Amino acid sequence: MLTSIKTNKLQFESQKIGMMYFRVAIVLFGAQLLMGLIAAIQFMYPGFLFELFDFSVARMVHINALVVWMLYAMIGSVYYMIPDETGREVVAPGLAKLAFWVLTAAVAVVVLVYIFIQVGPGKESTIWLINEGREYLEAPRWADIGIVVVVLVFYFNVFATYLKGEKTGIMTVMVANLFALAGLYLCGMFFTDNISIDQYWWWWVIHLWVEATWEVFVGTLAAYALIKILGAKREIVEMWLWIEVLMLFGSGILGLGHHYFWIGTPEYWWEIGALFSALEPVPLVAMFVHVLYDWGKEQGEVQAEGGAHAVNNTPAMAWVATNAFGNFLGAGIWGFFHTLPQVNIYTHGTQFTSAHGHLAFFGAYATILIGMMYLGIQGAYGIKKMYMTKLSKWAIFMIVFGLLGMTVALTIAGYEQVLVERAELGGTWEAYFTAQNLPWYIQAQGWRLAMGVVTFIGFVLLVADLLTIGPKEAAEEQGVATTGQAAAA
Ligand code: HEM
Ligand code: HEM
Ligand SMILES: [Fe+2]
Repeated sequence: MLTSIKTNKLQFESQKIGMMYFRVAIVLFGAQLLMGLIAAIQFMYPGFLFELFDFSVARMVHINALVVWMLYAMIGSVYYMIPDETGREVVAPGLAKLAFWVLTAAVAVVVLVYIFIQVGPGKESTIWLINEGREYLEAPRWADIGIVVVVLVFYFNVFATYLKGEKTGIMTVMVANLFALAGLYLCGMFFTDNISIDQYWWWWVIHLWVEATWEVFVGTLAAYALIKILGAKREIVEMWLWIEVLMLFGSGILGLGHHYFWIGTPEYWWEIGALFSALEPVPLVAMFVHVLYDWGKEQGEVQAEGGAHAVNNTPAMAWVATNAFGNFLGAGIWGFFHTLPQVNIYTHGTQFTSAHGHLAFFGAYATILIGMMYLGIQGAYGIKKMYMTKLSKWAIFMIVFGLLGMTVALTIAGYEQVLVERAELGGTWEAYFTAQNLPWYIQAQGWRLAMGVVTFIGFVLLVADLLTIGPKEAAEEQGVATTGQAAAA
């Protein structure tokens, strides 16, 4: 019976805290998608919810919820893996729980303020109380400072636990990388009147997060997940990890230059940005090869031994494999498309950018974080081998299909903007609107909305799966175990 299944087999407080973060992450992911749908409808019908819930607000909540749910899932993943990697409990679980509740309350307040105060004069107090106005990092300053405090608690916990516990390569990279990741947030916290200077530092957060520190973070997660799911050899996985770290930082840091082409920074950034950002797909290929290589090798070894099932968490593995493909496609390929200044002068700020933004964020981050949630559930219910259910399969299929569909649609819209607005009509203000009223653009936006709905249905199935797969499979395993015992007796 389902009710007789013990729901929490996790021995460590740290892992339970990880699960708390995962739960909030998935709720915020849902909110993100709903806001995306509203914004997509407004692209088609600009009057939709006008002056009730404007596009500017829907878009802002969409992308801020995106960043916040990913940070939640990242913190959750770290708390989840700490005991496995260091062999011990996190040093201050009570403090970690307090920080969790403070952060969650702050996020709730910020979102409510966004919803209730949508327009008004921009004053010094607005920055403190309502909105700091930096895309993706729009939290007001009081919340900004709160976030720093919460992250300090988190980092203290990770670092002190690391010092006291076993020091694996994965944890060493994790601890060093988290320091850089958290430190970069500070670059998006001060305000200057000069928009070029403001953007210059803002990109340190955005670019050096997604193309350097977050990617390294994903490298550590993939390494951990491959050991957990496939029983991959630690020496091999960690060797890959070090290579990936070297390459990611090698190209990612100066790759920053691809955002400095047109914001008033010196022209030498054209060459630096072009060269280093063009190299960025290389580590992504390495990450792709790494995952598929380990997977294939493990399958081969098991088949040689008689063919038992090697993967002990197929839904997590499906998402990790999707991550390898998605990261390479969304960041590597769609990023490379527009990274040279000769191309970017035409594509800059078109729907092409949005196509890349969607596939990259989804492919590189959403996927592996969902995979970590499945790993968490496996641990929480003490399931030895977790298999994909019908729901898991439909969820991953619809989400991936929807995202790919949205990406293709937006790429077509962007292509039309490049040709008509930029190349043919010279990129004037009038051309901007002309291009958006032509059929290729409008139809593409229609397809994006349709594919967004497919994605959303996939998300609903995902939530249903995350809620039911644990008890269901734990019950099945226990059933088998008891039948086995009965047969033996
Ligand atoms: C997972 C990693 C990545 C993520 C999540 C990501 C995400 C994004 C997002 C959201 C934007 C739009 C920013 C804005 O609102 O202005 C953007 C812009 C851009 N990305 Fe990426 N990106 C990633 C990796 C890459 C890589 C590897 C390259 C190049 C090889 C690249 C090249 C670019 C370029 C050139 C722009 C500027 C587009 C423009 O001028 O409008 N990205 N990226
Ligand atoms: C239901 C599915 C979704 C819909 C309908 C949707 C719709 C939208 C819309 C309408 C915008 C504003 C675009 C603009 O200003 O031109 C947007 C921006 C954005 N969305 Fe989504 N979205 C969805 C899912 C996602 C997912 C799953 C991710 C990432 C994991 C994501 C990441 C982003 C990013 C990074 C931007 C900013 C892009 C840029 O400025 O270039 N969205 N989305
Ligand atoms: Fe970038």
